[in-house]
Amino acid sequence: LPTGTRESAFVYALSAATISHAIARACTSGDLPGCSCGPVPGEPPGPGNRWGGCADNLSYGLLMGAKFSDAPMKVKKTGSQANKLMRLHNSEVGRQALRASLEMKCKCHGVSGSCSIRTCWKGLQELRDVATDLKTRYLSATKVVHRPMGTRKHLVPKDLDIRPVKDSELVYLQSSPDFCMKNEKVGSHGTQDRQCNKTSHGSDSCDLMCCGRGYNPYTDRVVERCHCKYHWCCYVTCRRCERMVERYVCK
Ligand SMILES: *[C@@H]1O[C@H](CO)[C@@H](O)[C@H](O)[C@H]1NC(C)=O
Ligand SMILES: *[C@@H]1O[C@H](CO)[C@@H](O)[C@H](O)[C@H]1NC(C)=O
Repeated sequence: LPTGTRESAFVYALSAATISHAIARACTSGDLPGCSCGPVPGEPPGPGNRWGGCADNLSYGLLMGAKFSDAPMKVKKTGSQANKLMRLHNSEVGRQALRASLEMKCKCHGVSGSCSIRTCWKGLQELRDVATDLKTRYLSATKVVHRPMGTRKHLVPKDLDIRPVKDSELVYLQSSPDFCMKNEKVGSHGTQDRQCNKTSHGSDSCDLMCCGRGYNPYTDRVVERCHCKYHWCCYVTCRRCERMVERYVCK
């Protein structure tokens, strides 16, 4: 984490989003004595809907989350200024992704589920969705340098395009180590013996993950439920089936 790679940018953003998410949700569920539900929006929620329920208290989550995530950078003397700026920026990107995930959620009411009236509130998306958003930003993160601009030093994109860093982009200071080979010093476990996917074209594909070293096949026995039958009333019986699947690990 302290090296300031693209991966650490992602981790800082995700942890900042996570802490604020947890606090906002804890307000909703009543687990925090110091806060309550979020605001009821000013505008009406659309025909057939009405505001109700308990909104996630996003502003409180962001406020307290920021205090928590950013505190070490504001007091600690250790670590370079560039690293602190990078961490502060990426934490803010994480919170921005969380802000963007606030959406209208509704629940149906009415006789026997007719849904004639819906109660709606502003709720945060699941953390997994926020993480997926940040993963996209991780892939397009910008390499920056710590450079004087005006009277102070700022993080600016390393490539020659003269523009400030955008509030929405993750930034990093150092290129990542080669994660192919084991190197404990830089925090890489290497990919030897990792399971890979022969038919995938993504980052789990054998070609990419094994870094051209090739892979070894092995057969794995999978036991699963099969020929399931429903019995009136009310249980299900299944048989157990075995099948062999071919799997691959990197050389
Ligand atoms: C959110 O929690 C804070 C802290 O308790 C509270 O002051 C605020 O009224 C709550 N709701 C809204 C609408 O922000
Ligand atoms: C391998 O990748 C293919 C294509 O992306 C996917 O359909 C399949 O489920 C994957 N297999 C495993 C074992 O993950």
